[in-house]
Amino acid sequence: MSDGILLPKFPRGTLLPEADRVARLKEALPQIRAVVEGESDPVAVEATLACLFWETFVQTNWCGFYRVVAPGMLAVGPYQGGMGCLRIPFHRGVCGAAARDRQTQLVPDVHAFPGHIACDDATRSELVIPIVAAGALRGVLDLDSPHPEGFGAEEARILEDFLGGGWMERLDWGDLG
Ligand code: SME
Repeated sequence: MSDGILLPKFPRGTLLPEADRVARLKEALPQIRAVVEGESDPVAVEATLACLFWETFVQTNWCGFYRVVAPGMLAVGPYQGGMGCLRIPFHRGVCGAAARDRQTQLVPDVHAFPGHIACDDATRSELVIPIVAAGALRGVLDLDSPHPEGFGAEEARILEDFLGGGWMERLDWGDLG
């Protein structure tokens, strides 16, 4: 096992000020990119991203992927945290909305989001980013926090740029496209 990436340590659940979270994310992403460089297997990449995003986003209680496995259907992929729902249809929850609309969902208060799926009652905010690569929606990255407003617009934008930056196009996604 490697030591992962080099970042200051904080206890799980710590909500750092937004400026510190953004700085931490900017410090982490080049390291994360270097770790997955050259790997073409989507599960290997998603598992590694789930692990390293878990280290980066200390405010999370769940961090991982839902994958498109059939038209209108997501199934859980690699993740860190408590047990997640196994399947999420596109018409349900925050993940479903991100998949259906192919739009990032930044939800500061999940109690105010109609249809939110409470896999973990402790979750209070979410950030879900769709992954579109090689001509198809492949899944979503789901980050959950027990803090209201656990994620900000700048973190969302930086993550969108990272995941949409082109390198994920080159993974062996199979024939969904
Ligand atoms: N809360 C999510 C479901 C996924 S789990 O919490 C891991 C949603 O509403 O999409």
